[in-house]
Amino acid sequence: MTAPAKVYVRTFGCQMNVYDSERMTELLGRHGFAPTSTLEDADVVVLNTCHIREKAAEKVYSDLGRIRQIKAARASAGRQTLIAVAGCVAQAEGDEVLRRAPFVDLVVGPQSYHRLGDLLARAKSERRGIVDTGFPNEDKFASLPQRTPPRAVTAFLSVQEGCDKFCSFCVVPYTRGSEFSRPVSDLEAEARRLTEHGVREITLLGQNVNAYHGLGPDGHPWSLARLIARLAAVPDLTRIRYTTSHPRDMTEDLISAHRDEPKLMPYLHLPFQAGADRILAAMNRKHTAADYLALVARIRAARPDMALSTDIIVGFPGETECDFAATLALVAQVDFAQAYAFKFSPRPGTPAAALRDQVEDRVKIERLQRLQDLLGQQQTAFNSACIGRTLPVLFAAEGRHPGQLVGRSPYLQAVHAAADSSWLGGIGEVAIVGSGRNSLTGVLKSAQTPKA
Ligand code: 5AD
Ligand code: SF4
Repeated sequence: MTAPAKVYVRTFGCQMNVYDSERMTELLGRHGFAPTSTLEDADVVVLNTCHIREKAAEKVYSDLGRIRQIKAARASAGRQTLIAVAGCVAQAEGDEVLRRAPFVDLVVGPQSYHRLGDLLARAKSERRGIVDTGFPNEDKFASLPQRTPPRAVTAFLSVQEGCDKFCSFCVVPYTRGSEFSRPVSDLEAEARRLTEHGVREITLLGQNVNAYHGLGPDGHPWSLARLIARLAAVPDLTRIRYTTSHPRDMTEDLISAHRDEPKLMPYLHLPFQAGADRILAAMNRKHTAADYLALVARIRAARPDMALSTDIIVGFPGETECDFAATLALVAQVDFAQAYAFKFSPRPGTPAAALRDQVEDRVKIERLQRLQDLLGQQQTAFNSACIGRTLPVLFAAEGRHPGQLVGRSPYLQAVHAAADSSWLGGIGEVAIVGSGRNSLTGVLKSAQTPKA
């Protein structure tokens, strides 16, 4: 008997890519490929790429250089290797990928994954690089096979893709196309299947998730808040989260859901990108710093313990020291539980890349450091304020030490506690006794095991 063909999938970038990679792995499973984590063993290598910043995109080419050598070594041993570049670099660069890396067999955009099996077969038989980066009419989610999830306590569920906002720095509207929302009934069915496989927490994903407007069972578009209410009725689903949100789409019903729906966790990732209104305008964000602060106040009125997270860009073209001070001031006013900060990276084809007044790299580095210092202080303070509290922790994995599990607090903090593995998938009350920048430690208070 010959060994089954193997596929190695490497994921770069965001959680939507993590979701897509899982679905591609499942799909290729049906085409006879078993997953492997060893590159040298792989008959098919899929790089699911990210184009959001230059560093992420360039990492793909350095990886490809290494994979090329493995492909050559395998070829001398008489074994063929097919290399597929998927994701946003594939979408944005198309033929250019084959020009820079002619040993690549397939370039496939995020909207064409459901055709991956056939495309690989074609690449194999035609022995030439194939590029498929169209936005086909068929719905990729409907064309993908039903999901057979791996056993896990938490899972991602893509509910929305694409973006119509056109922030001037961002490639997403070009790589993922315009907004598309999956129908409520499909999502409900997928959520049920996930819980049947042991999933207890689902994070709803979308580049602009709160712009969700999928078709409801009544034939009308439903908002994200309505979708959440529907999914909250799935009995074994204990926690719901969603990401990433745009301030402009933070509707009243979604804010109220944080007050009224106990399964919806008090954690919100809400990027503001910059603190100076003139930079926000140049970014085409369509909100001001005051709008953002007012929104945060409304959210905290509905859910006082809401943990807020954000994305911030430093060194957008034309950003002065005074503009940057406005970013620091906004961070100081909001007080984030955690956040991501980035240096502006000019992306080909986006309006901001063509702006004059690009900020020097050394200035960006220095601003990023100052911002990260402040964010680090806030994150550490948020975590240490949990000491002495008892938090419900959903245990999701074995910890680093024997007899220890790691789970998540409602605020998405990693929490380590001594507990036996019967707690996996269960929620235990944990007294928090220690904290660091990135995690908490605690003592499980509940005596009984969580599940029958
Ligand atoms: N340069 C730097 N950061 C960027 N982001 C998006 N585009 C760029 C860019 N050109 C950041 C934004 C976004 C996050 C996912 O990545 O902060 O919210
Ligand atoms: Fe990019 Fe702006 Fe859309 Fe977010 S909202 S994906 S930053 S264009």
